[in-house]
Amino acid sequence: MAMRVVEVPLGDRAYAIRIRAGLTADCGRELADCVSGRKVLLVSDDRVGGLYGDRVAASLRGAGATVATATFPAGEASKTLATVERLCRAAVAAGLDRGSRIVALGGGVPGDVAGFTAAAYMRGIPFVQMPTSLLAMVDSSVGGKTGVDLPEGKNLVGAFWQPERVLADPECLLTLPACELRNGLAEVVKTAVIFDPGLFARLEANVPKLLAPDLDFYLEVIARCCELKAGVVAADEREGGLRAVLNYGHTFGHALETRMEYRIAHGEAVAIGMVMAANFAAANGELPADAARRQRELLAALGLPTSMAGVDPDEIVALMARDKKTSRGELRLVLPRDIGTVEVRKINDPARLRAAIAAASRSPGGCCAGQVD
Ligand SMILES: NC(=O)c1ccc[n+]([C@@H]2O[C@H](COP(=O)([O-])OP(=O)(O)OC[C@H]3O[C@@H](n4cnc5c(N)ncnc54)[C@H](O)[C@@H]3O)[C@@H](O)[C@H]2O)c1
Ligand SMILES: [Zn+2]
Repeated sequence: MAMRVVEVPLGDRAYAIRIRAGLTADCGRELADCVSGRKVLLVSDDRVGGLYGDRVAASLRGAGATVATATFPAGEASKTLATVERLCRAAVAAGLDRGSRIVALGGGVPGDVAGFTAAAYMRGIPFVQMPTSLLAMVDSSVGGKTGVDLPEGKNLVGAFWQPERVLADPECLLTLPACELRNGLAEVVKTAVIFDPGLFARLEANVPKLLAPDLDFYLEVIARCCELKAGVVAADEREGGLRAVLNYGHTFGHALETRMEYRIAHGEAVAIGMVMAANFAAANGELPADAARRQRELLAALGLPTSMAGVDPDEIVALMARDKKTSRGELRLVLPRDIGTVEVRKINDPARLRAAIAAASRSPGGCCAGQVD
């Protein structure tokens, strides 16, 4: 089976992302230099742990690691400081010291919470990411952001902590629920619109392979997305500015998630958010109408919503103004200039913004979470 390796060039924190079908079952070989003769805490949620935990643990043991496992209930509700405390205590119970390793197996939730545990345990120990959801493979496992939620909001406590290595196994996508695959696809489309017209065209031409899912095609897509994100991360590890382009569709999307009290999937909110951003840019004459149409049609072909009925534009604008990514009171948005190019812009014409939101709030074929009450 073909393997892709993407290097993340971060000086003394540089690491490799290895992508190959079947890696999960034979991760021990790929990680021997990190885990051999060491203690490892394998962290997962109960769903992914149930599917893949045994084979990963067996493979790590085969490479000479002493493996303890810790799981928590699947879902965002586990991304808390309480889980971090439980994992730290499991690490103590398993005798982990500063030379030990944490391995995060799962989607973005295990990755973020185990990564943050690794950043904090004994003031920081190395960790390995084994992303199993598409979103984690193309987005959350790349870049070194780790953290947990508070009741007051998502991702409010965290650390930049780069993994020692990332192993992504496209075969895991075969067990991923279709709605979770679509969530990841929204981030894939996002990545293509931000950076790469060639990738966008390949996605348009291969929708059936994306939905199937075709593992050979995913190998290429995941590798390309990692390469593109790694490039921005290397240039702006701590989100000084450049990395902000990755928030394309997300300022609108977060406002929709808040409005829906998270009864809308993240990928769906981002898909609608990208349509709103494109509407806004097209109405300003800054994006060719054809580019906005292609983005909307690709999202729809992938089963993602492109509109949501019953949204009050004033409310969304107010929520966007509260988003933590607005700096010094001014609203900044990532807007597309064309497929493959975006820019960060200060927004000072809220009337046009409301119109762009309204335009994605009435057409049919909207979000599967249904109407806003
Ligand atoms: N650190 C970052 O830079 C970054 C970036 C984007 C998102 N995130 C975070 O990532 C999280 C979302 O990630 P996610 O969507 O992967 O969430 P998740 O980890 O909750 O996974 C979604 C669901 O899919 C299941 N699952 C995962 N892989 C599976 C597989 N191979 N087979 C069957 N089921 C599987 C999980 O058990 C879970 O029920 C959020 O908390 C978000 O804040 C972080
Ligand atoms: Zn996202």
